[in-house]
Amino acid sequence: MKPGHSLIKHYLQFKDLRAEEYAYLFDRARVIKTRFKNYERYQPLVDRTLAMIFEKASTRTRVSFEAGMYQMGGSVVHLTTGDSQLGRAEPIEDSARVISRMVDVVMIRTYEQAKLELFAAHSRVPVINGLTNEYHPCQILADIFTYIEHRGPRVGGGEALECLKGKVVAWVGDGNNMANTWLQAAEALGFTVHVSTPGGYEVDPELAGIRDSSCYRVFNHPLEACEGAHLVTTDVWTSMGYEAENEERRKAFVDWCVDDEMMGVAQPDALFMHCLPAHRGEEVTAEVIDGPQSVVWDEAENRMHVQKALMEYLLLGRIG
Ligand code: CP
Ligand code: NVA
Repeated sequence: MKPGHSLIKHYLQFKDLRAEEYAYLFDRARVIKTRFKNYERYQPLVDRTLAMIFEKASTRTRVSFEAGMYQMGGSVVHLTTGDSQLGRAEPIEDSARVISRMVDVVMIRTYEQAKLELFAAHSRVPVINGLTNEYHPCQILADIFTYIEHRGPRVGGGEALECLKGKVVAWVGDGNNMANTWLQAAEALGFTVHVSTPGGYEVDPELAGIRDSSCYRVFNHPLEACEGAHLVTTDVWTSMGYEAENEERRKAFVDWCVDDEMMGVAQPDALFMHCLPAHRGEEVTAEVIDGPQSVVWDEAENRMHVQKALMEYLLLGRIG
């Protein structure tokens, strides 16, 4: 396919797909996960190659994409800044032109979203955001699939999305890439995010890429954000790339720790999620993350199932 060809579908931010495409993806993820759990071979991507480019560290993203691609019959090339010409200032456009002539899909974890978009603009193949400073769409894809699994109907398709309508997700912590992506998901799928961040770390709707400000409400106190929430979620106080602010952030975020009191004012059957890695005693207590309302291990595993569905969709379109 030619660079910039309109038929190439990228996944650079959550709003790149429509609600009905999410309904389809969640359905496919359920089918693909069931097959995996039953040890049924499913290899629609034989002879296809995924290039993974990491400019930041990763455990879940690497393992879930790599294992997922092998399970679907394909193979993987793993590149980092340190062991490729990316670290020696080869222009991103040239890297995109070259890499995308040899592989079928590219996953990138980098700093600025603009860099990912520049790569995608010069790529002949679909590009997936594996986390940028601004967004982490694959994570929210997994989080919503996990919510549907635990609290949604046993059927797939549009009905699965119905269970999200009118629900409240409490975001406690930094107005970061995860928070921005939750806002995009709320706008796309019809739920509300109650956001509480320390002063100076607020979400910026323009940066978050949302037009409808009714998809979120801001609360000064994290306890207020958690009141009546169906899902409480948080993330590290200091994201990758912001390490120089660590000490300052440790002071600013001290009251933004999800604890039993916050879970206690949420819905009685509220779930707790965290994209991981977590710091017990900072953004969440051990009691909450290791407690009965936490679904963080399902959430982590589901990265693999939803990303398999995503790669299948980007490469093969709708199945059946
Ligand atoms: N949640 C997540 O993306 O984890 P990694 O940084 O380990 O990939
Ligand atoms: N907000 C975190 C997420 C890590 C998966 C970061 O960007 O470091």
